[in-house]
Amino acid sequence: MAELGFEVLGVDVDQSKIDSLSSGRVPFYEPGLEDVLTRNLAAGRLRFTTDYAQAAAFADVYFICVGTPQQATSNAADLRYVDAAVETLAPLLTRPSVVIGKSTVPVGTAARITAQFHALSPAGEAVEVGWSPEFLRESHGVEDTLNPNRIVVGTDSPRVEQVMREISASQIARGIPFLVTDLQTAELVKVAANAFLATKISFINAMAEVCEAVGADVIQLAEALSHDDRIGGKFLGPGLGFGGGCLPKDIRAFMARADELGVEPALSFLREVDAINQRRRARTIDIARGLIGGSFAGRTVGVLGAAFKPNSDDIRDSPALDVAATIGSLGARVTVYDPEALENAKRAYPQLNFAHTMVEAVRDAEVVLLLTEWAEFRSADPDELGKVVAEKRIVDGRNALDPDHWRAHGWTYRALGRP
Ligand code: UDX
Repeated sequence: MAELGFEVLGVDVDQSKIDSLSSGRVPFYEPGLEDVLTRNLAAGRLRFTTDYAQAAAFADVYFICVGTPQQATSNAADLRYVDAAVETLAPLLTRPSVVIGKSTVPVGTAARITAQFHALSPAGEAVEVGWSPEFLRESHGVEDTLNPNRIVVGTDSPRVEQVMREISASQIARGIPFLVTDLQTAELVKVAANAFLATKISFINAMAEVCEAVGADVIQLAEALSHDDRIGGKFLGPGLGFGGGCLPKDIRAFMARADELGVEPALSFLREVDAINQRRRARTIDIARGLIGGSFAGRTVGVLGAAFKPNSDDIRDSPALDVAATIGSLGARVTVYDPEALENAKRAYPQLNFAHTMVEAVRDAEVVLLLTEWAEFRSADPDELGKVVAEKRIVDGRNALDPDHWRAHGWTYRALGRP
């Protein structure tokens, strides 16, 4: 928003994050974000605070962007952070205001929150609510925010639509589609998009399972499918499957909500999507175990990758760390390297060993697993790694390497869905 020219005050309850952002440091790894942050701090358009009252005195428009993780004890979304933001902000709104939800929420939440603002705010119904789902991908966050492939605004208020058109004016002028819907459709667009993406990944991973049964090659299969532009090649990458802070929890929360709405059968296929995804992790472990003779007990294993995807330090529901931790629990000595996610991984998985270079992670390994496709791993030199491993065996969990190249350099190469 500051980059688009607006005056912005960012609020968070975590003082250490506010301190970090105020001093120009992004408290997580996101390519390009630090430049945007420092540029807009310097321009005086962007400030940060933990004080909601300051925000209420300052703003005309509020964006609620807090997380909606999975509940610890069910598939449903945990709305406590959204509720806390609403309950803290609402009593402070004395002037007519526009509140836009960006958080991914179960359909129906925006209507409930609208009623809450009307009930709790001194400005009453002069607080108007819209919902504008956020479609950015981590690691492409800056680009996806400045140049989204669409802007969706759910509202039944002409004023909310007008305000969002003003805020998005430069993007609309560049031809970015701007769609106005009712609140519930906007809420659904987000979860439907993530459900579709997850389904596409699990579809190709299901094909990988079939390929494994008959010795076919899922990479060739995916490429052949991709030339049909009704199918397309994006999100058709077979491998260890999806993780992260969005796709897994969003498909589960969507199923939980469908259950509450009495349309559980409509989304029962997402249970399969989730199950296919989880089976890829088990399959990766089985392939590695097979390569070292059937047991991990007392064996040495090198793992390349900890983040849920490359160019991120996010380890939420990371397939890589899930696989690494399971192999560790089966008795192996597992050493993990990741270019950016090591600190987060160390905190969450103290039982694993961590190395600060790729070579150190695979030293003496009897099998190496590539589990996050960082560019550094894609371009790894099989001879350089071959000199330090105990045995030249690699499981390519992301179909990121050239099998012929690695085999030509003496490695036993295995991948998901390929002979
Ligand atoms: C996702 C959506 O893409 C984004 O629109 C939404 O706003 C938030 O959720 P993100 O979680 O950042 O974004 O990651 P994404 O790039 O979608 O990747 C998700 C997971 O799918 C990763 O673990 C990735 O490795 C995996 N993936 C992706 C595949 O396994 N195969 C593919 O072909 C593509």
